[in-house]
Amino acid sequence: MVGYAFMGAAHSQAWRTVNRVYDLPARVRMSLVCGRDTAKVSEAADRLGWEAHTTDWRRLVESDEIDVVDICTPGDSHAEIALAALAAGKHVLCEKPLANTVAEARAMAAAAAAARAVGVRSMCGFNYRRVPAVAMMRRLIADGRLGTIRHVRAAYLQDWIVDPQFPLVWRLRRERAGSGALGDIGAHIIDLTQFVTGQRITGVSAVTETFVKERPLPAESSGLAAHAANGTGPVDGHGPATGAVTVDDAAVFVARLDGGALATYEASRFATGRKNALRVEINGSLGTVAFDLERLNELEFYDATRPTVEQGFTRILMTEEDHPYMSAWWPPGHIIGYEHSFTHQMRDFVEAVATGVDPAPSFADGLQVQLVLDAVTRSAQRGSSWADVEPLLEAVPA
Ligand SMILES: NC(=O)c1ccc[n+]([C@@H]2O[C@H](COP(=O)([O-])OP(=O)(O)OC[C@H]3O[C@@H](n4cnc5c(N)ncnc54)[C@H](O)[C@@H]3O)[C@@H](O)[C@H]2O)c1
Repeated sequence: MVGYAFMGAAHSQAWRTVNRVYDLPARVRMSLVCGRDTAKVSEAADRLGWEAHTTDWRRLVESDEIDVVDICTPGDSHAEIALAALAAGKHVLCEKPLANTVAEARAMAAAAAAARAVGVRSMCGFNYRRVPAVAMMRRLIADGRLGTIRHVRAAYLQDWIVDPQFPLVWRLRRERAGSGALGDIGAHIIDLTQFVTGQRITGVSAVTETFVKERPLPAESSGLAAHAANGTGPVDGHGPATGAVTVDDAAVFVARLDGGALATYEASRFATGRKNALRVEINGSLGTVAFDLERLNELEFYDATRPTVEQGFTRILMTEEDHPYMSAWWPPGHIIGYEHSFTHQMRDFVEAVATGVDPAPSFADGLQVQLVLDAVTRSAQRGSSWADVEPLLEAVPA
């Protein structure tokens, strides 16, 4: 695994857990973890359960001991590491968004397609697909329970940079993150809504905004949890050193889907009071489903085929054995949390690798999300004029 901070910790928890929860055809060994600082990666290896550590990710790619490379670094290193790992015959799990640019994502999808031909698998880490309620939404829609999909309403709302003194962490710099709220959290709702509806976004009209254009430089590299106090102090008595924010703070867009649905998307880091509010509602001719990540054990379902006098929103508690992923967990009513989505992700990935099938979402799926992000950016740059999403030429496995 490369990177051991937020996603590194979440993935490690899942790698540690997966064989103890699910009966899988292969056993995971947490062999080598990579970071840039020897002391810190050594401490992380102990804490997270890795056998060894290194400060050079090429050691993972070159090692004969290693079958899988898990990429948990910022977007600016995804392409380089993934391309090297695939070329060396390693199966790759890469965090989202797949890359920082369409060109990088295209190269990664092409490399993944070539690697697949020789049995090497790859997957992009859109973990929310593995929340049972999300998988259940997809099942209901695929079974026709919603009828024809008319509306998709998606928002992913956070508030961690409302304070203008919050420092200029890597997520606020285009050269490291590719984009801001758009690629970080907007990418999740783009993937999630396309996954559950089985429909692709064909075009968008967008606005984006950077509300706070200048921020204090961070005292040291800090992740999502960095606090404003990490900002540097006064420089030569002239106040804190600052730098330009080069990504969007929020992105809002309308979209058309290829099955005829109209959609709205909102991704913001300025939704005061909203911490990690990923909300999706889908209206069809026969019913509606609604999901809120902050209540992830619940799915709301309105079934318009029931007798009129019995119609109403049903709150389904997603803890039955027959609900997606739940057979291995606890008795009905015993809820699960955020980290379980990563255990589910590793279950599907390990099973796919061990049985020789392609896991989803593929790198091609990751590229397709990147093409939507690109259309949003183009539209916003051109005064919200309509931007078509470039179609993906390769057939993408569902
Ligand atoms: N699936 C999700 O829900 C989710 C949530 C958060 C982040 N992410 C994605 O995960 C990735 C990492 O985000 P994060 O929040 O964990 O970031 P983070 O800042 O918490 O951690 C980044 C890690 O990468 C390491 N790193 C950076 N450059 C490196 C290099 N060249 N070589 C080795 N290590 C390097 C850092 O030392 C750190 O350990 C991003 O692509 C992000 O978009 C996904």
